[in-house]
Amino acid sequence: MVLKDGAIRTLSVDIGGSGVKVMVLDIKGNPLTERARTETPQPATPETVINVIAGLAATQGEYHRVSVGFPGVVRGGIIGTAVNLTPEWVGFDLATALSKRLHQPVRVINDADMQGLGAISGKGVELVVTLGTGFGSALFVNGKLVPNLEMGHHPFRKAETYEEQLRRATLEKIGKEKWNRRLQRAIASLEHLFNYDYLYIGGGEANKVSIELPLNVKIIPNVTGLLGGIALWKDE
Ligand code: BGC
Repeated sequence: MVLKDGAIRTLSVDIGGSGVKVMVLDIKGNPLTERARTETPQPATPETVINVIAGLAATQGEYHRVSVGFPGVVRGGIIGTAVNLTPEWVGFDLATALSKRLHQPVRVINDADMQGLGAISGKGVELVVTLGTGFGSALFVNGKLVPNLEMGHHPFRKAETYEEQLRRATLEKIGKEKWNRRLQRAIASLEHLFNYDYLYIGGGEANKVSIELPLNVKIIPNVTGLLGGIALWKDE
């Protein structure tokens, strides 16, 4: 099939610990379809998740390439870690397997990295954190990604990691007020560590943030995780 560049459609996929989301983007990254979502299957193995993606993709009409945000370390399309899914993912070549299933080229990166690509300005040091099933993080220097930053699994306080202290399960356990106070401490700690110019807060629970934020800290909508998918093909 010969396509004019302008007609190329990208299927963007966001694999989360609680939901799998998809949307088709035009060549400029604008949405062409409504976001579709299915609960993440349990157990979330490569097989069950690929089945869910294929089911969602079938509702999205035509697309010619696929971008995937995955909740773990990803190198060259291969999964390195998947702490909130199942152990079968480690070493799994998601790009190749999904490409065989959907019959289109597939590129995969970390979910927070993909969300960041949809949010950043491209100037200075920009940090992105995502609040959801896990705690995601992404770092950019003048728009260039430092891939697979995993702040979530680093100690934060009381011998717990950022993820243990701030993930959705903890929010549900300790309530919004306490969670927001913790988030405020986390922001202060990340500010001292990274000295970022901008911090973006995304993920499914970002809408629960109620603390007053400094001017250089922005809440970004969760759909940014899908919009970032266009950036995976900017070399084409
Ligand atoms: C994973 C990260 C991911 C984050 C958000 C963490 O548990 O280690 O790679 O970005 O969850 O999904």
